[in-house]
Parts: sequence; C-alpha cells; structure tokens
Amino acid sequence: MNETKLNGKTPNITQENINKLMELFPEVATEGKVDIEKLQQLLGEYAEDKPERYNFTWNGKSRALRISQTPSTGTLRPCKDESEQWDTTQNLYIEGDNLEVLKLLQKSYHGKVKMIYIDPPYNTGGDFVYKDDFKDNIKNYKEITGQVDGEGKNLSTNAETSGRYHTDWLNMLYPRLRLARNLLSDDGVIFISIDDHEVDNLKKVLAEIFGEMNFICQFVWAAGRKNDSKLVSISHEYMLCYSKSKSCLTESSTLWREKKLGLDEIYSVYNKLKNKYNHDYNAIQNELKMWFKSLPPNHPAKNHSHYSSVDKRGIYFPDNISWPGGGGPKYEVLHPNTGKPVKIPSRGWMFSSYARMKELIDDDRVHFGADENSVPCTKSYLKDRETSAPYSVFYKDGRASTKRLMSLMGGKVFDNPKDEEIIKSLIEFTGTSEGIVLDFFSGSATTAHSVMQFNAEDEGNRKFIMVQLPEPCDEKSEAFKAGYKNIAEIGKERIRRAGKKIKEEHGDAAENLDIGFKVLKLDNSNIRRWNPDPDDLQTSLEDHLENFVAGRNELDVVYEIMLKYGLDLTYPVEEYEVAGQKVYAIGFGMLMICLGNQITTKVAEGILNLVKKLEPESARVVCRDNGFASDSEKTNVKEIFNLGGIEEFISI
Ligand SMILES: C[S@@+](CC[C@H](N)C(=O)[O-])C[C@H]1O[C@@H](n2cnc3c(N)ncnc32)[C@H](O)[C@@H]1O
Repeated sequence: MNETKLNGKTPNITQENINKLMELFPEVATEGKVDIEKLQQLLGEYAEDKPERYNFTWNGKSRALRISQTPSTGTLRPCKDESEQWDTTQNLYIEGDNLEVLKLLQKSYHGKVKMIYIDPPYNTGGDFVYKDDFKDNIKNYKEITGQVDGEGKNLSTNAETSGRYHTDWLNMLYPRLRLARNLLSDDGVIFISIDDHEVDNLKKVLAEIFGEMNFICQFVWAAGRKNDSKLVSISHEYMLCYSKSKSCLTESSTLWREKKLGLDEIYSVYNKLKNKYNHDYNAIQNELKMWFKSLPPNHPAKNHSHYSSVDKRGIYFPDNISWPGGGGPKYEVLHPNTGKPVKIPSRGWMFSSYARMKELIDDDRVHFGADENSVPCTKSYLKDRETSAPYSVFYKDGRASTKRLMSLMGGKVFDNPKDEEIIKSLIEFTGTSEGIVLDFFSGSATTAHSVMQFNAEDEGNRKFIMVQLPEPCDEKSEAFKAGYKNIAEIGKERIRRAGKKIKEEHGDAAENLDIGFKVLKLDNSNIRRWNPDPDDLQTSLEDHLENFVAGRNELDVVYEIMLKYGLDLTYPVEEYEVAGQKVYAIGFGMLMICLGNQITTKVAEGILNLVKKLEPESARVVCRDNGFASDSEKTNVKEIFNLGGIEEFISI
C-alpha cells in the first residue's frame, strides 16, 4: 500500500510532459533534466535550429507559456444551493477565471472532452481582456471579480490605441488554448468563434498549439448585414476548427456528417405508398416520381429527386457502372428479360471480373433498362446516403438568437449571444451523442442550451461543462436592473429556464433529460500553505496545525481531493456514519474520505466493511492527518488498511 501526503497544488504539467519525452527518448535524460543537444542530435534533419526560421511570436509569449505550465494553487468549491439536481446531474457549471479552472480540470478531464466550443472576446477595441497575474492568480481573480472587500478592479477594456493591443489578447488566449488541448480526446475537436480583428493571429496560434495538419475548417457564419462599417458592411464571422488528431477523425465514417434535409418527407411519402401498393414497386416508384415533380423548386426534398427508383430494399438511385477514368474490362452481360447482350459503357465495367458482376446481378443489385439498348446501372440506396459532409458556410440571421434569449429571460440581459442552433450543428458534425462538451467562455451559456436541446431531440446523453467568470454586470445595464449581479448568474438562470422550456416542449420523450448542473466555484486551496509570519510566528504555527483554511466545510475538501486524484466531478458522493465519524464514499467506494477528529481502528474497520460492500475495483482512503486519536492509533489504522487491500492511504 502506498502512503501519500497531499498538498494544495495541481499536477505539474511540465514535469508530466518531460516524463513522456523521456519515455520516448531515454537517452536525453540527464539527472532529471532534458539534454537539448542530445535531443537535437537524435532528431537529426527534423530538428529546426536556424536562428531565422518560420515562427509566430509576440511580446510576452514565453511568459504566457510559463503561466500555462505553473500549477494552480486553487480549488473548486461545490455550491449545492445554486445547483440543480445535485445528486443526479452529470453537467457542471464552474464559476471562475478559466485559466485556473482549466488547470484544475487537467487531471480529472485529461483526454475526456469530445468537443470544445468557445466564443472569446473578439478584441474589437472595446472588449474586456482578462489580465493574468504570474505571482498570485487566485488573488488577482478575486480582486478582478470584486470578491475582495466587495470592490471589483476596474475592468479596463483593451483599446485599439493601446501599444499592446494584439499582444494582450494573445497573452490571454495562448495559455488557455494550450491547456484546453490537453482535455480533448483523440477524436476531439475545438471550434472558436472569431471575426476579422484577430482571425489571422488566432489561426497562427492554433496552428502552433494543435499542429497545422490538424486544421479542419474555417467555417463562415453569414449572420446578416451590420450597419456599423465604414467601407464594407462585413456580414460574416468565422468559426475556426482544429482537431486533436485529424487522422483519428478520418478513420471514423460517422463523424463529420450531417443529415441531408428533406429526407423525413421522402420517407413519409414512401411509407404511405408502401402501405398502399404493398410489393408493387413499379406503382410505388411511379407515384414517388410524380410527388417529386409536384414539389416547389426550393423544397429541400427536391435535391434528392434522382432517388426515385424502388425495389425490395428501398428507394435507390441508378448510379454509374463504368470504370472510373476509362480502360475498364468489356465483358459481355446479358439482359435478364431479352437475353441479348446489353450495351457496354465506353469506359468499360466498374467490376474487374464477370464473376463479381454476376454475383451482384444475382443479388438484384444491378438496375437494367427496358431492354439491352441501354447501359445498366448500380443501385445507390438512399438509406446508405442519408448524410453528407457539412457545408462550411452557415446562413442564419444573427438577430434571431438575441430575440429568442430576450423572450426566454424576459429582457435584454446579455448582448450578442451566439445562436444555439448553430452550436447544435457543430456538435452534430462531431458525431458526439455521449461525450462532454466544454465551453470555457460560456457567457449566457448558449452552449449548455444547445446540448440540452440536442439531447432532447435525439435522446442523446451529451454532458456539458460551462466555465464563466463572475464578471460584474454594469450597474446601468438591464441585467443589473433585473437583479443579475454578474454574468455567471445570467448563465445559470438561462440554463434553468432553457431546461424547463425544453422539457415542456418535448413532454414524455424528455423524461430523463438531464437539465441539472453542479455549481463549483474557484477559490484558493482548502489546504493551508505554510506561510510563516515573522511578526507572529506563534500564531502561524498554531494555525498550521489546523490543516484547512478557516470557513471551509468538509465537502469543499472532498471536492479538492477528487480534483487532485483526477476523479470525475460528477461522480456520486455518498455520506455514511462510521463509528461516530462521517465518511464519504466517492464513485461507489473508489475513494473513501474521513475528515473527522476521532479516527480510530474502529473507524478503519468500518471503512473496510463499507469498501467490501460497495465492491469498487480498487479503493483509496484519505484521512485528516491530525484527526487520529493518537500516533499509535494512526499506525494501527494504516496496518488495517494495508491488510485489507486498500491501494493507497493518504493523509492530508
Ligand atoms: C463573447 S462572450 C461569450 C458569449 C457566449 N458564447 C453566449 O452565447 O452567450 C465571452 C464571455 O467570456 C467571459 N470571460 C472573459 N474572460 C474570461 C476568463 N478569464 N474566464 C472565464 N470567462 C471569461 C466574459 O465574461 C464573457 O461573458
């Protein structure tokens, strides 16, 4: 059994990356450090060592890189009161600066997120761009959001006249994107909304972080004319999309497909005709053709009117049977009714042998004309072609989503929300019906709305993680007057209202829809750091004997331990009473926590019995370091856990 002592920091990501590098190139390890020259030699011609090389850089880039690598000293404190369906929900709403939050999520959600959508500030000259503080970012966060003395720092906007206009924005986004990439699964993708102000810079940064080869598309959203432009009325913006690993995406045929429009109508007509004509495929086919002809030119089903032949397998389109490019075989094929050789395509048959052609004819997969004078065709069935690759352009009036949000919230509480229908389409492209969708600039929580809406429509089981700064609302704003003190409050209320509305609209079909969310809030670690005060060492020492920061409750500590051990924050946390002490069982016994002050061998035996009952694959136990009745009691407890097969015993 391992014995570990827990501190108040997140994992050291740089160290973990170095370990991976050393696994790949053990020769470069010299006393725990990396021998760069050796690595260069090993990489040979693949190492770029010229001083003048293709490179995108700006003032502060290396500092921003270091910021992304320093562990967080923060934690996420659960807030049951503001959550919905706390015990059952799989969704998270996290309030905090997203840099710290992304660091805290590194262990629990590494490689687990299927899709990230973000809509960061576009840096249009009037945006607030968060400034990180290298020394104490949690204190900085509390000051910015007015959690210290109730006085928020003035949220200055990043003005275009500032000498560091692009630099400030890049320094903000770069470390966040680096951390975000770690959370994506191998087949995961990220979409980032942006406009002309920063699209070029963003594309370069993304190419560096994700690799040029993982670029998928620069989607365009034509959202309608804006009347604020001097020369050209810019009526579009972009959504840049990169994958974690493009090769993983291309291997799967279900990803990056969207359902063709108009198919529901075609199937509904076809099913009626099948009932009417039973197996008379000619009659079905004739009436289907007439229906296609009767459609107005802009009807979406009209695009599929070539699918108007019918056989026992369904609706099909007689497709080309010739050898692509020409030079194919020209063997003889007899017409099934006339018995005479049919016309051979000028490029030859697409099947290299007559035997293969015969097999397909016998299986009724070749479509013959009325007689031997026309070239036969292969059959392409509609059911096999229901999806197509998505278009790179969205045409959708940007004002519609603002109006919908206003009507949902009863007023204009948020400017320029994104369109939940468009985000839904992005989720659809990724083929995600189960995975986690993350938005760490969540604003009014449009992404959460899209996830719930999509789940209701296709009975999916996607989960969301929203991250939002409790950015104070301007006192003159409609939101403030409506009672919202900060944007996180708007986001949470939007999810509540949208969830309720979606449930009402979908009735029984949405019975099991998860419209809840667990609220967690960023704060400094619950575990005290050794910070001796030279003026009052006695008090410092006494304080330090108490392991936890004053004012924190046990559940705060439980969630911090879950973060440190990389457990999913939506795992169930059950409470038990064991020999007079409260014991928490997380994830059905995989982690047992006792933070009581009277931990005895009786408590240890009780915990072991619980573990046996819950039957986790393996179990860890965490106890409060100064919670043991005596030193010898601690030694005995350790022995009980050791003999009882507990994998790790941790004291904090
Ligand atoms: C453009 S808005 C997103 C709007 C959102 N897509 C919607 O449809 O409502 C960007 C949001 O990111 C938030 N934000 C800015 N800096 C942040 C940070 N460091 N951490 C978390 N959120 C931040 C802002 O408060 C703002 O609400």
